Order: sequence, then structure tokens, then C-alpha cells
Amino acid sequence: MEIVLTGIKPTGTSHIGNYFGAIKQAIEFSKNSNYLSMFFIADYHSLNTIKDPELFQRYTYEIAATWLACGLDPNKVVFYKQSDVPEVFELNWILNNVTPKGLLNRAHAYKAKVEENKNNNLDADSGINMGLFCYPVLMAADILIMNANKIPVGQDQKQHIEIAKEIARYFNNAFGSCFTVPEEFIPDSVGTVIGLDGRKMSKSYNNTINLFGSEKLLKSQINKIVTNSQTPEEPKDTNCSIFKIFSLFANLQQLEEMKIKFAQGIGWGEVKKITFEVANTFIAPMREKYNYYINNKSEIDKILEAGAIKARKIAEETMLKVKKLIGKI
Ligand code: TRP
Repeated sequence: MEIVLTGIKPTGTSHIGNYFGAIKQAIEFSKNSNYLSMFFIADYHSLNTIKDPELFQRYTYEIAATWLACGLDPNKVVFYKQSDVPEVFELNWILNNVTPKGLLNRAHAYKAKVEENKNNNLDADSGINMGLFCYPVLMAADILIMNANKIPVGQDQKQHIEIAKEIARYFNNAFGSCFTVPEEFIPDSVGTVIGLDGRKMSKSYNNTINLFGSEKLLKSQINKIVTNSQTPEEPKDTNCSIFKIFSLFANLQQLEEMKIKFAQGIGWGEVKKITFEVANTFIAPMREKYNYYINNKSEIDKILEAGAIKARKIAEETMLKVKKLIGKI
């Protein structure tokens, strides 16, 4: 059976752009029983930016609770934490030795940092740790150790998958056939999710709507969606941020009703009120689950531990092959 694997970096609280842009499709896809889905929390990857033990732990629980609340079924998906599979880090070291440094010099994230340093008249390597530089090798280890076939990722991760393919080939050429060369899989997204200000929703623009914030927060974030100065009576164009955000949550009937209101004229305050109600109805059952997991972290621990046992079985098998090929056994 083909393996579909993806890593989730726990770096902050999820927003509705994460949900509609990635989480929803990934969970939908994981229900396809033609594939074995493996989702893991790439906690050691986040160490290159997070140096606070409390945050490190909090983000990991939050991201696990988020995926479980959004419908990930741990009985169908192998759901685990990267750091619970020590074989990954053993393979990471071995892969370092078949990875040309030049390949990593070309990685976008590293190159961007070097550029930024140059522009600021700093030493080229200022603020760059080996975790950042070697990030793509650890990612290759994540993928290759599970013999994954398909890697669903966003466009921003495409180069990382290409590097993983290269590393698989380098190893196979040096030691003999071992790793499946994976394929990236960039799901047709529903398009970019628009943020409060009309730009792409992103933490770096500070224009997000939290997925599992309180009702109060949801209301206040929706109220911040930028609109124009048209009066309530004027007919409105549906090509605007608030309509786009509304459509994410609305069913067909709600959508039609809103279109009619837009054509007839409706005040922005009213649109926001309806958007909040529709969004809140959509989110409420998931939010309840999310809060349950956050208040019962031992449940999360149990699920991730069970997942790690399954993941380690596959990882151990791969490592046996690798160790034979390099001559350790
Ligand atoms: N780098 C990915 C991100 O930032 C997370 C990740 C780590 C990953 N290892 C992976 C994704 C392996 C796919 C496969 O989103």
C-alpha cells in the first residue's frame, strides 16, 4: 500500500487559513483507504526557532489537539511525534554523509537568510544555526525512513521535497537500492484564504482569524475585516474579503441568501453579524473537541504514543536495511 506522509511544524496557534488551506484537505485525503496516511508533528524541526521549553510543549499539544479536533482519526492515520522516533535522527546523521553541502547552500530558507544578512551588512552566517542549514536533511530522514510515496505539502515546501529526492538517490547510488524516491503532491487548494485586510491570511501579516479562539475572539476578529464605506442601501460586490470569508463557512443555501442580500443592499455590520453566526456554528463542535483535548492532554499523549509504536515499526525495518547496506551489520 502506498504511504502518504506529511509533517506539521508546531510553531503557533492555527488560523482558519491553515484549516481551509491544508488541514481540511489532508484529513479528507486520509479517509481514502487506498493509502496509508502518516501525519507527524515535526517538533524537533521547530527547535531551530523555538528556544522556550514551555512554548515547545504548548505548540505541540495545540497542533495535536487541532488535528484531532478537525477530524483526524488516529485509528486510520498513523499520528505521531517526530521526536518519539529516534531512528529518524540516526538516519539523519547517515544521510548527512551522502548530502553535498552545495545542495543545501541552494535551499531557499537558508539563501534568504544569507541575503538578508548581506543586505544588513552582517556576516553571511549571522544568526544561522546548523538546524536551519540542515533542515532539509532532517526532512529527508522523516520521509525516507517511512518509505513514503506521496508527500502532500504546500508550494513553499516543494524544494524541500526535491532535496529529499536527491538525497534518496545519492544514498541509493552510494550504497545500493534502499529508499523509495518520494513524490511531492501539491493538493489543488481551494485558493488562497484571504485575511482580514484582503491579503493572503498569514501570521506574518497579522491578519488571521484563529481557528479555535473563544467565541468572543472570533466575533472581534470578524468585526475587523476591512470593508468599504458604502451605505447599507447600496448593492454590494461579492468580490470582497468579508464575502470570501463568509463563503468558507456557508452552506449552499446560506450562500444564495447572502448573494441576494448583497444585490439588494445590506449593511456591513449585518454581514459581519451573519458571518460570525455561520462561522461559529461551523467551528463550535470542533472547538468543543479541541478544548476537550487541551484539557485532557494525557489523551493526546496516549494517541501519540500509540502512533509512535506503529511508526517505529516501519522505521526499524528501514534502519535494518540501511545498517546492512552501510556495513554496520
Ligand atoms: N517543513 C515542513 C513545514 O514547515 C514540515 C515538515 C517536516 C515536513 N518534515 C516533513 C513536511 C516531511 C512533509 C514531510 O511545513
